[in-house]
Amino acid sequence: MEAPSLFEAEHLTVRYPTGELALFDLTFRIEQPSFIAIIGPNGSGKSTLLKTALGLLRPTRGHVRLFGYDSVRESKKIRRLVRYVPQRDRLELNIPMRVKDIVLMGRLLKKPPPRLVSRRDREVALEALRMVHMAELWDRPFPALSGGQRQRVLVARALASEGSLLMLDEPLAGTDAESQDLIVRALGKYHKENDVSIIMVTHDLNPVHTYVERVLLLKNRLVGIGTPCDVMDAEILQQVYGPSTRIVEYAGHRYCVTKDSGLDRHD
Ligand SMILES: Nc1ncnc2c1ncn2[C@@H]1O[C@H](COP(=O)(O)OP(=O)(O)OP(=O)(O)O)[C@@H](O)[C@H]1O
Ligand SMILES: [Mg+2]
Repeated sequence: MEAPSLFEAEHLTVRYPTGELALFDLTFRIEQPSFIAIIGPNGSGKSTLLKTALGLLRPTRGHVRLFGYDSVRESKKIRRLVRYVPQRDRLELNIPMRVKDIVLMGRLLKKPPPRLVSRRDREVALEALRMVHMAELWDRPFPALSGGQRQRVLVARALASEGSLLMLDEPLAGTDAESQDLIVRALGKYHKENDVSIIMVTHDLNPVHTYVERVLLLKNRLVGIGTPCDVMDAEILQQVYGPSTRIVEYAGHRYCVTKDSGLDRHD
């Protein structure tokens, strides 16, 4: 029997009202459970794919499904199963809340009112902060944290909430190599131990490729799909990041060297 589907698209095309063609004719199928990375340069449609899968945007053509649920007809069911962390927006920076409140919010949002904090909520929130080494910041005001610390707290909020799928849009943005490794390791461990699937958008495959199981490489169309090793292929990556892209092997792993700013350049 076929394994149950986690994330699939059929001839998915998304065009914004401005005429911008963000995604064109994507077809793929990834089984559950999985830890998926979506990569591609700026403007390649990564955030659009997440928003469309969640039912926040409508496909212009075709379909996208999570757990077999159609993004248009069954978006309520999808939202019950998914914890979504949008791409960092500046609004979050000014919320006068403490770290604990941010993480507890992840637990309370899916509860019916009155949304009271239980002892278990506190335990889960603290454990989630421990996973990203932020437990000692429990009482700190959120706006007083550094960008990288805030990212870790937002990941902890997602880890503390409930749902069968974590969807994170660039959780590694603005974090240093050590934080990136910590976040990805925490997500990988969480995925393995809890049977929770993860879809994360990331700008760079290098920090994640030892943890993720499937990679989708986008440039408004689907350029590559497979294991990190399948996609870590110079010919595939050159289609997206330009002809100067190289793969280097070090200590049994493949790394991709791109001139990210050199998109479409033919030098
Ligand atoms: N609200 C919008 N209205 C019109 N066009 C949009 C809108 N949002 C995104 N686009 C366009 O759709 C394309 C894909 O954008 P998207 O945000 O999905 O890219 P991305 O891969 O997430 O990029 P980034 O790495 O910069 O986050 C881009 O060309 C972008 O300009
Ligand atoms: Mg984006």
